[in-house]
Amino acid sequence: MPRKPFICCNWKMNTTRAEAVALAEGTARTAAETPAVEVGACPPACYIEAVAAAANDSPLLVGGQNMYAEAKGAFTGEIAGPMLADLGCACVILGHSERRHVFDEPDDLIARKVRAAFEVGLTPILCVGELLQERKAGRTETIVRRHVTSGLEGLPKDQAARAVIAYEPVWAIGTGETATPDQAQEVHAFIRTLLEEMYDARLAQTVRIQYGGSVKPGNAHDLLARPDIDGALVGGASLKVDSFRAIIAEGAEAKEL
Ligand code: PGA
Repeated sequence: MPRKPFICCNWKMNTTRAEAVALAEGTARTAAETPAVEVGACPPACYIEAVAAAANDSPLLVGGQNMYAEAKGAFTGEIAGPMLADLGCACVILGHSERRHVFDEPDDLIARKVRAAFEVGLTPILCVGELLQERKAGRTETIVRRHVTSGLEGLPKDQAARAVIAYEPVWAIGTGETATPDQAQEVHAFIRTLLEEMYDARLAQTVRIQYGGSVKPGNAHDLLARPDIDGALVGGASLKVDSFRAIIAEGAEAKEL
């Protein structure tokens, strides 16, 4: 079974409510025009409900940018998985490099969040990726191995098969510097060998692996043309409907859809 490409917006801490709704409407139209590509949008948590309403009756999936690992309780400021599910989310970004490096989220917390997401039927988008100094020191595979193995730890095969992994080299996020298609493909193929080691060859061929880090119109085609790159997690370029639409079009063309 070919893997359906999955291209997801990460609006991060941007947009007003009105901007989020307008962006959601445009993104939902793009999703409807391109049914061969799964399209998702992860707005700021406070706008999820408004975005879900705007995406209603369209194939656009709505997701959270983060969640906590517990289902409820005294965790001031946090959002629980059941809350995201209740708002109509289908997926949630977990372990984003900004969570790992700005908010110091450790591997074991991210793993607990991944398990908690599955408990409420949310698809986790598990972000993995090395810092620039780690790449320069030749430690890319060591870091990616740690992120993937710890993030999926304890997951039964049927859940792991549904997880989405986003390879996001930290040095390429928001910097305008993209990994070359060769650099990205190499790490994506490595992630598939890891999945084969952890589970089996069939699962490794099933899991979708997105690339993230300065994806924009103009580079999306060459990235998604690579065999192990199944989609993209897009930050800055997803904040304008036209540029995100162009990325979707390039992705569909690259996959010959
Ligand atoms: P960027 O962000 O596209 O702005 O580099 C990607 C991400 O952080 O998911």
